[in-house]
Amino acid sequence: MSGFPVVRMRRIRENPVLRDMLSEVAIERRQLILPIFVCPGEGVSNPIQSMPGVCHWSVDLLPQIVEPARDIGVNAFLLFGLPTYKDADGTSAFDPKQPVQRALTALKEKYPGIFLIADTCMCEYTSHGHCGHLRRDGRVDNDLTLALLSKTAVSQAEAGADMVAPSDMMDGRVAAIRAALDEKGMSDVGIMSYAAKLASAFYGPFRDAAGSAPSFGDRRGYQLPPTNPREIIRDAMLDVDEGADMLIVKPAGPCLDIAARLRERTDLPLVGYAVSGEYMMLHSAISSGALDRERALLEYHTAIRRSGCDLVITSFAGELARILKDGPKKG
Ligand code: PBG
Ligand code: ZN
Repeated sequence: MSGFPVVRMRRIRENPVLRDMLSEVAIERRQLILPIFVCPGEGVSNPIQSMPGVCHWSVDLLPQIVEPARDIGVNAFLLFGLPTYKDADGTSAFDPKQPVQRALTALKEKYPGIFLIADTCMCEYTSHGHCGHLRRDGRVDNDLTLALLSKTAVSQAEAGADMVAPSDMMDGRVAAIRAALDEKGMSDVGIMSYAAKLASAFYGPFRDAAGSAPSFGDRRGYQLPPTNPREIIRDAMLDVDEGADMLIVKPAGPCLDIAARLRERTDLPLVGYAVSGEYMMLHSAISSGALDRERALLEYHTAIRRSGCDLVITSFAGELARILKDGPKKG
């Protein structure tokens, strides 16, 4: 006697008040993280070709993007950088005079209440575009890269980062970065590791935006194979053992199953990263009129929360916050 007609699910759905009361998952403004691309120069707010609606910002103009976001309730920012020079080892990644470090210091001083996360990787800073030190055979040397990443994380922390977010996918980077930060007396700086970062076509627009596409080959030697869920979970759980404070799952939409599985395996906060390709997928469908903007943005990002993510990184953070603040149109 547990089925229809005694049981009628619509009894708890049809009344709009009750339906609203029973809403299980929501996305809130306090859970959003806005990625920002910082570039050299002054007075620069350059629209990014591959990501309409997103700009490169020079340090002096950062208030133009940070302040409106903060005023509408987005308090956390993830910084990426375009350096003034690149070399084989990406040494500009740990140069305190480069845009990310200058931005961290400037923002921390001007807005003490915001939370600053620095993306920690070498690919934006290396002349070859790979995420670490290249060996002669063209492969990325894991252990030499750990030293570069640690230097980068320390320099970002010294500049004012509250957390560093290693996105390189080398083995052992979380432990190496933790040890390097602790040794410098920065045990309060956290690590938000890209724990489940898949080799993905959805990073395409970002690589144009950040000038970080590999000049040869691809990243499949270090990023995770989308076909291997067990391997992905195993790799992500190593970051937990190594002392990560939070785990990023990316690209978020194509990895909802991974987030759900990680939710069962760890109590660490999880962060879904709706990446540049997801931004463009939504942006294109919305601007062509195929999808309703507010409903599509809410549904897409709420699904990331439903999969088990506590926080969401998205270039739509500002727009979402506005929709959430004003209340969505009903529909
Ligand atoms: C750097 C990095 C990438 C992204 C975040 N950090 C690119 C990549 O791995 O090629 C992707 C972000 C996005 O697509 O929005 N390793
Ligand atoms: Zn990288």
